[in-house]
Amino acid sequence: MGFKRLAPRILNHPGFRGRATGIPRSKIFITIRRRFGDCSGCDTMEYQMIAPEHSEQVLEHLRRNFFADEPLNKAAGLCQNGSSCPALEAHCAEAIQHRMSVMAVDAKEKGACKIVGVVLNGILKPGDTAKALSKLDCNDDADFRKIFDLLHRHNLKHNLFEHFDVDCMFDVRILSVDSCYRGQGIANELVKRSVAVARKNGFRLLKADATGIFSQKIFRSHGFEVFSEQPYIKYTDEDGKVILPVEAPHIKLQQLYKAICAGDQDEKKQSL
Ligand code: ACO
Repeated sequence: MGFKRLAPRILNHPGFRGRATGIPRSKIFITIRRRFGDCSGCDTMEYQMIAPEHSEQVLEHLRRNFFADEPLNKAAGLCQNGSSCPALEAHCAEAIQHRMSVMAVDAKEKGACKIVGVVLNGILKPGDTAKALSKLDCNDDADFRKIFDLLHRHNLKHNLFEHFDVDCMFDVRILSVDSCYRGQGIANELVKRSVAVARKNGFRLLKADATGIFSQKIFRSHGFEVFSEQPYIKYTDEDGKVILPVEAPHIKLQQLYKAICAGDQDEKKQSL
């Protein structure tokens, strides 16, 4: 029996214990969907490359789903859900220009498409991070500075370019899924497709700064390995005060990488 027929039977069964334990029905629904390997959004879900003309729609998705929800943004109190953050928007818009990013679009109704997930990828060259860090001093958004100071300094201290003989990297910068569509495997699919884009464009190394426990799990499940970590409680100011009080279960930043070997065929057939 398929998920769509089975889920209501379980949820409505008089002996179902979830009612007594007070577990939200949405959580149970997602668990059943995962258990039975089905995905209700999949029927109408399309994955497309992001072009610069999609920028405004992508930013609107991020304002509603990434800007306030991502663990570091949340800890810094970067912005309210739905509101704009010029510094982060500039960072996202720059990545879109590299034409390596992918979006998940729900095409439920003809002509009415909704962006429900994005992965923004860019090309990273030696020297880019040091340049970004020096530019950070001129940024007047103190919360943005707290976040990117951590990321840039960590990347410079644990320098992937010094360990791998590459002159550029495929940088997975932003991973975001609409809060109403989470738990359906969309982030997994976006990362899988990013690896395919990197491979198609001849990259030998991918990197990602994963800030939360779930994104870390997703990257690892696609063959990314941990290069370095930074516990959030150790990111402190001169008085020893934690700069970003990130909420559990997210406890550390992970810099992950994935090396692509010429003979490695696993994602080669993935098309966009
Ligand atoms: N609780 C438990 N497990 C979870 C959760 C959760 N809330 N979210 C994801 N997972 C796990 C799932 O168990 C799943 O594992 P499985 O394949 O073994 O079943 C795996 O993560 C992938 O789940 P998806 O359904 O593909 O993830 P989803 O589409 O829900 O998106 C994401 C996950 C991107 C983290 C989403 O929650 C989000 O947008 N969060 C806010 C922004 C954010 O934190 N982005 C990542 C920052 S790092 C970066 O951008 C590079």
